[in-house]
Amino acid sequence: MPPAPALSPPPEVLNRAAHLEAPAFLLHRPTLVARLSALRAAWDAYAYPVKAQPHPDALAAAVALGLDLDVCGSEELDAALATGAEGHRITWTSPWGDAALFDRLASLGARAYLDSLDQVALWSARHPGRGAGLRLSAGPGTYGEKFGLAVADLPAALTHLRAAGCSLTGLHAHASVTAPDDPDELAAPALDVLAGAVGALDEPPATLRISLGGGWPVRPLTESAPSLGTALLEAARARLAEPLRQRGCTVTLAVEVGEHVLAPAGVYVARVAAVHDRAERRVVVLAAPWVVAPRYEDYPVGFFRPGRDGLHPLDTAPGPTTVYGASNGPADVVSRGAPLPRPQIGDLAIIGHCGAYLSTLMAPFNGRSMPPMLMVDESPAP
Ligand SMILES: Cc1ncc(COP(=O)(O)O)c(C=O)c1O
Repeated sequence: MPPAPALSPPPEVLNRAAHLEAPAFLLHRPTLVARLSALRAAWDAYAYPVKAQPHPDALAAAVALGLDLDVCGSEELDAALATGAEGHRITWTSPWGDAALFDRLASLGARAYLDSLDQVALWSARHPGRGAGLRLSAGPGTYGEKFGLAVADLPAALTHLRAAGCSLTGLHAHASVTAPDDPDELAAPALDVLAGAVGALDEPPATLRISLGGGWPVRPLTESAPSLGTALLEAARARLAEPLRQRGCTVTLAVEVGEHVLAPAGVYVARVAAVHDRAERRVVVLAAPWVVAPRYEDYPVGFFRPGRDGLHPLDTAPGPTTVYGASNGPADVVSRGAPLPRPQIGDLAIIGHCGAYLSTLMAPFNGRSMPPMLMVDESPAP
C-alpha cells in the first residue's frame, strides 16, 4: 500500500471549507504569495503563467510581487492588462498567434517568443523593426513535442528577423526538469538546445532574455517550500549567460514555472456522493466534476465530517481507496489506492495540490455549474 499522502490545510482553509457550498476551489493567498516570492527572489525574472491560475487576485498578487505575466492568447492578455500590468511586463508564448494578436502585442511593447517559422514570417511582415524572441523545441519534456522551433530552423528564423530589422530579444525553451535543485539529477535538454542556439548566434545582441519556461513537477507531495531551481540556474549561468557575457551580451535568466509553485496553494472541496466497499478496494465517487484525464492519480485527499464546531477529519482505520470524480469515463481518478478512512455520503473530501490548472481544465459535465474559485486570506490574529 502506498504511504498516505499528507494533507494538512491551513486552519483558515478548513474554516472556509466548513462554510461553503461544495464543490468549490479555495486558493490560500499567504501560501501563494510565499511561494511566488521565493521563486521570484531566486531568478533574474519570473513570468507568471496566467493559464495555470487565472484568478484575478492571483494575477494581482503576482504583479505586486514584481513578476511579469505570461499569456497565450487575447483573453489572457485582457486578464493581464486588467491587473494594470504595463505592456513590457507581459510575455507571450503560444503555438497559436494571428495578425490581430501580434498587432496588440507589438503596440503594447509586450515580449513575444515566436514559436514557428510561420510566426517569424508574420511578425516580421507586420512589425518590421520590432524585436522578438524565439521559442525552441526542447524535445518531448512535460508537454510533448508541440512547442517551439527546431534548432535546425534557427538560422532561417534569425535571417528572416534580421532582414526585417527585428532584433533578437529573447530565447525560450521549457526546461521541464524533474529535480531542478539537484545538480546530480539535472537533465535539461533545454540547456543543450539553448547552449547550441547561443553558440550559433553570430552577432549576439547587447541584451538577451533567456526563459527556461516551466514544467517542474509538483512532487514531492509533502514539500512546503517550492524548489528554487538553484542547480538549473547555476547551470544556465555557466552555459548560457557567461559565454554571452564574454561576447558583450547581458543575459536575464527567467522562468515561467506554474504548477510547481501554484498547485500547493489550492484545495478542491467536494462532497462524497457514493461509497462502494469492493472486495479489493473501496471506491469513493465525488458529487463534483473532476478533470477527465488529470496528470496525476495521487492527489492528497482528506475526508471531513461537518459538525457544529467545524470540520472533523475522519480518523478511522484506513483502507485502500480509489477516489473518482463524477464524469462518465474511468480516467477521472483523483487518488488511486491510497489508504484512506471510510467516508459517508455527504462528508467532505478536501483534495490538495489543486491550485493550478484543475479549475480551468474541468468540464461542467451533467449540466453542473463550474465550481467557483475562492481566495482565502490568513485569519486575523485572535
Ligand atoms: C509558455 C508557457 N509558460 C509556462 C508554462 C507553465 O508550465 P507549468 O505550469 O507546467 O510549470 C506553460 C505551460 O503550458 C507554457 O506553455
